[in-house]
Amino acid sequence: MSIPPALRGATIAGVGMYVPERILTNAELARMVDTSDEWIVERTGIHERHIAAPEQATSDLAAPAALEALKVAGQSPESVDLIIVATSTGDTNGYPATAAYVQEKIGAKNAAAFDVSAVCSGFTYALDVALQYVASRRYDTVLVIGAETNSRFVDWTDRTTCILFGDGAGAVVVRPTEYGEGILGSILGADGSGTDLLKVPAGGSRLPLTAELIAAHQNTIYQNGKAVYRFAVDKMGVAAMEAVEFVGLTAEDVDLLIPHQANIRIIQSAAKHMGMPMEKVVSNLDRYGNTSGATIPIALYEAWKSGRVKPGNIIVTVGFGAGLSWGANVIKWGTLPV
Ligand code: COA
Repeated sequence: MSIPPALRGATIAGVGMYVPERILTNAELARMVDTSDEWIVERTGIHERHIAAPEQATSDLAAPAALEALKVAGQSPESVDLIIVATSTGDTNGYPATAAYVQEKIGAKNAAAFDVSAVCSGFTYALDVALQYVASRRYDTVLVIGAETNSRFVDWTDRTTCILFGDGAGAVVVRPTEYGEGILGSILGADGSGTDLLKVPAGGSRLPLTAELIAAHQNTIYQNGKAVYRFAVDKMGVAAMEAVEFVGLTAEDVDLLIPHQANIRIIQSAAKHMGMPMEKVVSNLDRYGNTSGATIPIALYEAWKSGRVKPGNIIVTVGFGAGLSWGANVIKWGTLPV
């Protein structure tokens, strides 16, 4: 029997992002549904969001983000061992994985490819999967992408949901490092008793699409906004702290919190729970809205690009979403030149 190889560390060796050009402002939304810029900003913090062009599917957003992350990492597409796409708005309804489209688009012909479906927590789940593969020495180069085309699943006549969501993609390259460096650990969780609180009811095996269901807007995002809000406020800060404690750190050790970007009030409550000033919290939802599985890698990219992330910094990512699901990763940032 061979001796199992020792664990090693896994670090973020490259980051990239892509958002479609078209910007949809609150003022434009106010001409589509009964809402106002003032209401949206006050209740959510969102000012505008990006919307995919008609010919763009989720893999079209994911591919440029992935290529940028590979370039930053100095890795070729051929060197990628595995592509994981965190998405709940894939190119097709499950067949095939969006990761397979990305593999073809970027020319990563040696990579295995699959999707992770944990909705807005998806990136935190996918990053933890990448950590396991790299730490166990199974793979050396894993591309983790959060990418969504929410605009295709939004009911544009429902003012309670259509104001929240946007489209975009963020990507990271996960590569080996010394044990104790890089992604230090994660916590993941789910509460399936909350499946009805946030979902796209029709179009799956439970409720295959019919003309009646489409007419009743059952193929678009439904949510119990108040219940989801309560869950998020209760869970986000707690989940982040659980991850921090899991890796043996305290809130004082955290240099930057990168939370899922759903609502500025939810982000503020998480920061408060952790005793973190807002200067240590990354928020860009004013410009992108809620891009589901893409919010965290996009925010991470922007924090890195603007020089907010320094070598050795402790970064905590935390997501929550449909499922209900939640997840958090603690990352000791390496040296990644901007
Ligand atoms: N513009 C104007 N008025 C709106 C509106 C809009 N876009 N959406 C809802 N309203 C109205 C409601 O109809 C309600 O009117 P009423 O009092 O006459 O019934 C009033 O505003 C208050 O609605 P309420 O739902 O109580 O607002 P809220 O403060 O809870 O904010 C959300 C609503 C959706 C912004 C908030 O609940 C939320 O962010 N929930 C979490 C959603 C989320 O993050 N989902 C994704 C998770 S990954």
